[in-house]
Amino acid sequence: MTSLHWGYWKNRDAINLENLKKAQTHYTKKLAKMIPDDVRQILDVGCGIGDNASYLVNKGYDLTCISPEIKHQAALRKIVNGQAAFQLTGIEDYSYTGEFDLALMSESSNYFDADIGFTKLQNLVRKEGYILSASIFRRAPTKQYLSFHIENDWVASAKAHGFEVVERIDITEQALPNVALMKSIVSTYIIPSAELFGKYVSGSKGIKARTGSFFLNPSIKHMVDFFNNGYGGQMSNPDLFRKHASYIFYLLKNNS
Ligand SMILES: C[S@@+](CC[C@H](N)C(=O)[O-])C[C@H]1O[C@@H](n2cnc3c(N)ncnc32)[C@H](O)[C@@H]1O
Repeated sequence: MTSLHWGYWKNRDAINLENLKKAQTHYTKKLAKMIPDDVRQILDVGCGIGDNASYLVNKGYDLTCISPEIKHQAALRKIVNGQAAFQLTGIEDYSYTGEFDLALMSESSNYFDADIGFTKLQNLVRKEGYILSASIFRRAPTKQYLSFHIENDWVASAKAHGFEVVERIDITEQALPNVALMKSIVSTYIIPSAELFGKYVSGSKGIKARTGSFFLNPSIKHMVDFFNNGYGGQMSNPDLFRKHASYIFYLLKNNS
């Protein structure tokens, strides 16, 4: 995998893994186009495996990347080839004596509390600097999609910390093919394989197989349930996603 985000799909592209790669590249370009002209130094908050950072480095920006996941450190180092700084930390514990022109949050803002994030970024982003965010939001306080911020609450938190909205672009329709792709992968491969594996384990003879079956079957049931009724099911249901969630690019300006 060369990227962790959902991508920006073009209308006529067939929904398959090859076109996911194209959509992910298109997403990075689309997001980068929103960067204002007076930006040079960027903090990539939750950089993942570094494909956005690599694109931005090649465009001439100075990148500092942070992520609390150790595997991202190695992946990023490989992709940016020493051309971007990396710190193994979440935003909550990150400190820096200087200031950035822009903080990028590409599918990372939902991993931390909005107030904590904006409090940190208020000090890390220079006056009249920016936050560029790409994120899934809940439309209202529903039970579904609980791991995402409610959009109005997140914007209210941004404003309370001195960030005003400069631009808002709704890309829900362009991101949704990714949900359809997940649905097709889950229903074509994951659930049938898990069920088949479960049947194989239950049908096997011998003490080892019976012990394996005892431990494995609940996990398999749990996994199938996760994809049918749980979070995995929500993330692979385009109609449910459209009803309760949205995918928004935001450019915010620090007026504090
Ligand atoms: C879905 S990935 C997105 C990666 C990348 N930005 C992209 O667009 O492909 C979420 C990223 O947020 C990072 N993350 C998780 N918790 C975080 C935190 N508390 N502070 C900053 N980043 C965090 C994860 O380690 C991961 O790198």
